[in-house]
Amino acid sequence: MTKVVALGAETVVPMLDLAVRDDQDHLVAPNAVTLAQALFEGGSEVFGIYDGDTPVGLLALIDFAHDAAKLQTGETRDTLYIWRLMIDANHQGHGHGRAALAFAADVAQIRGRRQIALSVVPDAASALPFYEASGFAKTGRKIDGELELIRPVASR
Ligand SMILES: CC(C)(COP(=O)(O)OP(=O)(O)OC[C@H]1O[C@@H](n2cnc3c(N)ncnc32)[C@H](O)[C@@H]1OP(=O)(O)O)[C@@H](O)C(=O)NCCC(=O)NCCS
Repeated sequence: MTKVVALGAETVVPMLDLAVRDDQDHLVAPNAVTLAQALFEGGSEVFGIYDGDTPVGLLALIDFAHDAAKLQTGETRDTLYIWRLMIDANHQGHGHGRAALAFAADVAQIRGRRQIALSVVPDAASALPFYEASGFAKTGRKIDGELELIRPVASR
């Protein structure tokens, strides 16, 4: 069963051993880069994704309601942003990615955010179908060359 847990000093290092397939390298930053950037990315929170006790992936969120979050034009404070999501090449296709999306949706709902947003590389190999199957839709906007996707959050 998939668990999603906030990273700490004792759990961060195994995240460095996780990587996507070589042909997916252009779709998401390496975990070492995400962890380094998170030090300077206001409002970011980084989680490990586990199958039981085995680390299988990384999820990074930015809560745009956080005072330190830096919003770009068109972005709004009522949004939870999925900044990074990766499942290690050896653990893809077992439902962990979908479980991580469900976790993000729970976080957004508990905090009263109205939508979840993210962006995907405009590429045939991208995870766009994965997100569309989970209710995300293109907004038509591009952010740093990537397609913005949004999914509304059901109110509690
Ligand atoms: C995209 C990713 C997070 C999905 O995680 P995962 O654990 O492999 O996906 P799941 O096993 O939860 O898949 C859920 C469903 O989505 C489908 N799916 C997963 N990745 C897909 C993709 N890239 N394209 C189309 N469908 C995909 C699965 O086949 C499955 O469908 P099913 O319910 O019909 O069986 C993972 O494959 C990954 O890390 N990819 C490389 C990095 C990346 O693209 N990250 C996203 C950056 S925006």
